[in-house]
Amino acid sequence: MSLPGKRDSFGSKFGIIAAAAGSAVGLGNIWKFPYITGQNGGGAFLLIYLLCVLLLGVPVMISEFTIGRSGKRNVFGSFKSLAPDSPWYFVGIMGVVAAFVILSFYSAVAGWTLEYIVKSLTIGFGNQSTGELSKAFSSFLAHPLRPVIWQLLFMLLTALIVVGGIKNGIERYNKFLMPILVFFLLLLCVRSVTLPGSEKGLSFLFKPDFSRVNIKTILFAMGQAFFSLSLGMGALITYASYFRKTDNLGRTAMTVSLADTMIAILAGVVIFPAVFSFNIEPTAGPSLVFITLPEIFSHLPLGNLFGLVFFILLAVAALTSTVSVLEVVVAYFSEELGISRKKATVLASVSISILGIFASLSFGPLSSFKLFGKSIFDLLDFIASNILLPGGGLLIVIFVGWYLNGKFVLNEVSNSGELKVKYFPVYLFIVRFIAPVAIAAIFIYSVFYGSLG
Ligand code: PHE
Repeated sequence: MSLPGKRDSFGSKFGIIAAAAGSAVGLGNIWKFPYITGQNGGGAFLLIYLLCVLLLGVPVMISEFTIGRSGKRNVFGSFKSLAPDSPWYFVGIMGVVAAFVILSFYSAVAGWTLEYIVKSLTIGFGNQSTGELSKAFSSFLAHPLRPVIWQLLFMLLTALIVVGGIKNGIERYNKFLMPILVFFLLLLCVRSVTLPGSEKGLSFLFKPDFSRVNIKTILFAMGQAFFSLSLGMGALITYASYFRKTDNLGRTAMTVSLADTMIAILAGVVIFPAVFSFNIEPTAGPSLVFITLPEIFSHLPLGNLFGLVFFILLAVAALTSTVSVLEVVVAYFSEELGISRKKATVLASVSISILGIFASLSFGPLSSFKLFGKSIFDLLDFIASNILLPGGGLLIVIFVGWYLNGKFVLNEVSNSGELKVKYFPVYLFIVRFIAPVAIAAIFIYSVFYGSLG
């Protein structure tokens, strides 16, 4: 299965973009980005976010692609092959642990989207007051079984895609699912901007209000850029290990980052005009899409249909991300333990699901169980988003900027001199100096001063 030379690979350029963008576009774009933007001053936050993506996100992504494609193995194995006899493989272990942790709580939220798909198809959102909708959400979360069942079902869907391998599983489904996602998103955008009073929402999203910007906003934006672009834990290292020698790493990183950012902005264009049109507070927080949006659907003609489209969109976005996270662990198990992809998928998804059940139950039966003052869900989110991702990102840029030889990196990003890479000196400067300082700042701030998101 894992014999050298027999490794699976992506089969087309579109497949690579769809898979990497599929990993990046997820709950982070459609659930997290709009509410973080809402709470941090709208347009001003957006502007800072764009700078973070361009100055930090793209270079870190190119670095991950470089490690994966030249290492040609899972995240642990790639570090091991590029830096034999050194402890750098530890970054790979951190990546696998991060994948475990992220998937355990991410699949819980992903499962909620399935509940809401079924809700739109059955009872719908009509004639319910905000109070009722928010009560319905909290009693669903508190239920001892429902969220867990949806979560397990979501893990099963993820595993079914991953077990098919790269070309016939991950690539095939991303090529099919990503266009659906974009189509549904555009459909909802048109609906939202044609609502009366939608301009207020658009101006909230695009008009910068710098009075709400402070150092915390900037760190928030960096943290969000990292999470949203799937950086810092090896998902893109693992995917890049299946890229072909002729693929253009710089251009792919640019395209994927642009797609991810466009989709986050479009999610804002769906949500804010609707929120303002119905005079709802834009700063609702995590409940924004599970309470605020259903409230909007309840007032909208054909609201249940739009609700259905929205929650399918959210589920698809989450699924193409969970697939990339599971692949990190599956590639690691199958290559390092020498077991088949099938066995590795079962092993990975069952063990992650067990941890995941605790994350789900922390909203219900285990809600009074706290560690370091946080529920299990919040603790897992904190460990991943605030420690493992920025910590991993920091080590990745130090590895590429300082451990790997500059010529080696240039050789990899230029496909052995085939491509002109005029951006290379700027890239290397960022990876050596700017990115480590910026990421260290997020890291220190988020570990010591609390949750960044
Ligand atoms: N980028 C994904 C999102 O925005 C989440 C993710 C993080 C996926 C890290 C893979 C790795 O939802």
